[in-house]
Amino acid sequence: MALNVVIMAAGKGTRMKSALPKVLHRLAGASLLQHVLAAAAETGADASVVITGHGAEAVEAAVAAVAPAARCVRQEPQLGTGHAVQQAVPLLADAHATTLILNGDVPLIRPATARALVQACAGTKLALLTVTLADATGYGRIVRESPAGAASVTGGDAVRAIVEHKDATEAQRGIREVYTGIMAAPTALLKRWVMALSNDNAQREYYLTDIVAMAVAEGVPVVTAAAAGETEVLGVNSPVQLADLERRYQRARAEALMEAGVRLADPARFDVRGTLECGSDVEIDVNCVFEGQVRLGDGARIGANCVLRDATVAAGAVIHPFTHIEGAEVGAGALIGPFARLRPGAVLGREVHIGNFVEVKNSTLAAGAKANHLAYLGDATVGERVNYGAGSITANYDGANKHRTVIGNDVHVGSNCVLVAPITLGDGATIGGGSTIAKDAPAGQLSVARARQVTIPGWQRPKKPGR
Ligand code: UD1
Ligand code: MG
Repeated sequence: MALNVVIMAAGKGTRMKSALPKVLHRLAGASLLQHVLAAAAETGADASVVITGHGAEAVEAAVAAVAPAARCVRQEPQLGTGHAVQQAVPLLADAHATTLILNGDVPLIRPATARALVQACAGTKLALLTVTLADATGYGRIVRESPAGAASVTGGDAVRAIVEHKDATEAQRGIREVYTGIMAAPTALLKRWVMALSNDNAQREYYLTDIVAMAVAEGVPVVTAAAAGETEVLGVNSPVQLADLERRYQRARAEALMEAGVRLADPARFDVRGTLECGSDVEIDVNCVFEGQVRLGDGARIGANCVLRDATVAAGAVIHPFTHIEGAEVGAGALIGPFARLRPGAVLGREVHIGNFVEVKNSTLAAGAKANHLAYLGDATVGERVNYGAGSITANYDGANKHRTVIGNDVHVGSNCVLVAPITLGDGATIGGGSTIAKDAPAGQLSVARARQVTIPGWQRPKKPGR
């Protein structure tokens, strides 16, 4: 069944106390709105409409970047959730029998829950997603018909209305079943109902929730579906709530990984902002952050305080603490860090060793190559078993262009060398420590480029007067 989705994102988010529109704040590395757009797509939206208002330009740019097929419509001024849906009316295709309403600031809604709600609507009924909360303050209450005709607090009976907290009686405030802000409605009826709303209420707003009483009056069935838990329907209104939701999200990610056998030193000190795929027997120490797409092979070990972004770590590799890896591949059995930095285009073969304070960028290192201390390899092709000494660098940039350094198999580069690219060191070449090498070094020979040592006989060290 074809589906329209309306995402409400015009609200100001005053309590965030931020210049950034609320729906653009990030959870697990993606904006709140991006999470909702992804959920809409996974639910099977055939057309999505985002209602924008506060910070509309920034929000619309964000929508265009991640969901170019979604359409935005502005709501100015913001006169309530019903008024928000009124703006979408011209864009809602009646041919799409059902319209799902999502909130831009409720990021963790599960597509399975949204699909169940759409199914419950079936293009003919009004379906409300509800949740029962210990403290329902502030929420719209689900008022049900009791057999005696009085408002029921138990649930299970037919829904009569949603009453907003500010408009609720004392008795109604005792109801703990609340509206989550998410509903699915027959498109044609929704359009007619929202155009008929009035703002005769405590907040002088057009409440979308008033369509429930309209449905009841017309004899249209109103059904409810329960959220799987409160996390998926929690909204973000303040930095405290954003951080709370982030931790709930990360905890769930951590538990799913641990259930798959990943050993996390502490699930409370673990963050995934993207996707993390792990083989078997992977160990991850505390305070690691995984961004973009990261893959860890069987038996890989990640030390404390590492940041990995868009990276692949092959089986058995060990990443020691405080290592930063971005856009790089680490070969099987490699040892990296502590305090190493692998930048985009670093491709390390089997059993490569990269030690402390070594930076590698856009370079391939073949099996068994080692750069153990304080070095830079940029735009280099490094052969097998190369030993690259402490303090050595590739001078790859002439101020305008980048040049390549090619280092053959079994080359030894001593300490404190400058390899001025473009340059090639032949297989088995040895470069004496402290050399600045600006011409190709032949295979199998020693090249040294430094002033010869001299000893001055009889030289006297100056003395301080009186000594
Ligand atoms: C709304 C519901 C309430 C429910 C609660 C769940 C109504 C009248 N009330 O209340 O029953 O329990 O959500 O969180 O719908 N928005 C606009 N334009 C507006 C007003 C709001 O786009 O003019 C957007 C907001 O950005 C937000 C969403 O609609 O994404 C909900 O608005 P909000 O003001 O938070 O509604 P609540 O008072 O929380
Ligand atoms: Mg709200």
